[in-house]
Amino acid sequence: MPYVIGEACIDVMDRSCMDECPVDCIYEGKRKLYINPLECIDCGACEPACPVTAISSDRKVPEEKAAFAEDNARFFDLPLPGRAEAIGAPGGAAAVGVIGVDTELVAGHGAA
Ligand code: F3S
Ligand code: F3S
Repeated sequence: MPYVIGEACIDVMDRSCMDECPVDCIYEGKRKLYINPLECIDCGACEPACPVTAISSDRKVPEEKAAFAEDNARFFDLPLPGRAEAIGAPGGAAAVGVIGVDTELVAGHGAA
């Protein structure tokens, strides 16, 4: 089961987590980063690197934050706004670069 990045990352985007991931499976949206559940090897190296403790194992996500855990998978499984195809599992964030788009949940977060 993969690790997930929660709400606390939104508009913080410290990116320390990216430096720790041995398989480069943390991808950058516009306001938040997302862990690819198909590529994460569940090593946990990213979790202590985040200064706002946004990262956790998806087995330990409390119920009120479950929407953000599911949203991590959605970022890769469904086409993002403005894109025709889902990202899927491209095999590494460095090759893909900044994706620059968020899921609807994250894009609309905090909007009145
Ligand atoms: Fe990478 Fe964290 Fe998974 S370091 S492999 S995203 S647990
Ligand atoms: Fe976000 Fe924390 Fe990584 S703020 S970018 S999950 S280090």
